[in-house]
Amino acid sequence: MATIISVINYKGGTGKTTTVLNFGAALAKKNKKVLLFDFDCQCNLSLSKGLKKPEKHLGNILMKKATVEESVFKLDTFSIVPSVENLLDYEFAISNEPGREFITKEFLEPVKDLYDYIIIDCPPSLGLLAINSLVAADYFIVPMQTENFAFIGLDHIMSATQKVKDRMNPNLQIAGILLVKFAYRTKFSQAVISNILANEQLKDKIFDSYIRQDISVMESPAFGQTIFEYAPKSRGAKDYHAFANEFLKKYGKTKKEA
Ligand SMILES: Nc1ncnc2c1ncn2[C@@H]1O[C@H](COP(=O)(O)OP(=O)(O)O)[C@@H](O)[C@H]1O
Ligand SMILES: [Mg+2]
Repeated sequence: MATIISVINYKGGTGKTTTVLNFGAALAKKNKKVLLFDFDCQCNLSLSKGLKKPEKHLGNILMKKATVEESVFKLDTFSIVPSVENLLDYEFAISNEPGREFITKEFLEPVKDLYDYIIIDCPPSLGLLAINSLVAADYFIVPMQTENFAFIGLDHIMSATQKVKDRMNPNLQIAGILLVKFAYRTKFSQAVISNILANEQLKDKIFDSYIRQDISVMESPAFGQTIFEYAPKSRGAKDYHAFANEFLKKYGKTKKEA
């Protein structure tokens, strides 16, 4: 039975897509069956694997024109359901449907036994699609890059996720905050950490592993590759590998549970 993970933040440029791609690839390297979902109309995750204007995409699933199984691209090590540029048209089309927040939970149900991990790359907002991912998810991860005032808005994410938990998905849990482009010595990084530590709900929710700034991490999507394909010895590869280990240690299922 798959563990479903929503990678979420309310804004762009926080490392969501990079994390979905490389965390997913790190899990796949450990022989986990992984399905990645692109929920963002910017299609960065899809493009990072060379899926440009794909015929099969999330929009068709939302409209019930295709199933997840029919929409999956099976790559070497993991699978992916791409997004589409006019995803907002599809989002608009479902926006008045009764039970619209549950559409993702519903369409994932038939494939849950086919994967170990289903990871959703959220759009940079807390709109209907992000809420859909949270309603379907077991865990959410909040990547936070530490170059600017990244912690602003954290309360907003926590109150939105709490509402989803209370009203629609009692199973939802925060897995943790993942610090991205983290550099211990910089003032911004320290400021981000102290702000998180000052928050009662979140102070013990920062993952011990963090992702350092690494040019290879930035370059790899342009070559259609994960960090493990593009630069297997890089800092980025080491960091995402360590993060996947930490995640599995904290939240991985035992053979019996899976
Ligand atoms: N560890 C890293 N080192 C260097 N650049 C990074 C790192 N992580 C992400 N980036 C870059 O930061 C930018 C934003 O990351 P991205 O994952 O696209 O964020 P989001 O999906 O939240 O918008 C991208 O250009 C990406 O390549
Ligand atoms: Mg993105």
